[in-house]
Amino acid sequence: MYQLNVFIHVAMAALWVGGLIYTAAVAVPFALTHAPDERQQILRGLARRFRRLGWSAMVILILTGLGNLWLRPAPISPAQLFSGEAFDAQKVDPFIAEWLGWKLALVLLIIVLMLYHDITSIRAAREHPSPGSAPGRRSGSLAAALATLLSIAVLYLSVRLVRG
Ligand code: HEM
Repeated sequence: MYQLNVFIHVAMAALWVGGLIYTAAVAVPFALTHAPDERQQILRGLARRFRRLGWSAMVILILTGLGNLWLRPAPISPAQLFSGEAFDAQKVDPFIAEWLGWKLALVLLIIVLMLYHDITSIRAAREHPSPGSAPGRRSGSLAAALATLLSIAVLYLSVRLVRG
């Protein structure tokens, strides 16, 4: 059960981080080679399709992340997480105590940034439904770019969490 849970967690991490990197490294540069109205159609279409997949992956990451803590050989309960014991190296696995707090803080920040990106995109698409008419949303794009970099940092923190 523990191994299956970790497998699902890592598969969802690949989907989330891979999707963000693909968007930044492939989809956006490709869209930028097109005229503004076409560019907007491409980006809106791709974003709509990835949004549900990406957020589903994030929900599963949180659930399986809690599962990882609960099912690991030296388990950590949700109560220990909320009481703060999970961050005390005297009480739990020292790798977890050292790295879990950073990981959860970054995950929270990523969620806030991506919510900001998605809410501003959806609002712009509603206010300017015809292609080519929406103004650029620099702050939303910056938020998504930062969330992409932070997601890669979360991968590093995850390795430290398990291997010190
Ligand atoms: C963006 C979100 C997340 C990503 C990309 C992510 C990624 C990963 C990856 C790649 C690993 C495997 C590390 C390794 O074996 O070296 C891992 C392990 C782990 N993650 Fe996450 N994670 C995320 C969210 C969470 C959350 C929200 C929690 C806790 C509530 C969590 C708890 C854990 C735990 C405890 C492990 C260790 C599993 C073990 O015992 O081997 N993760 N994570």
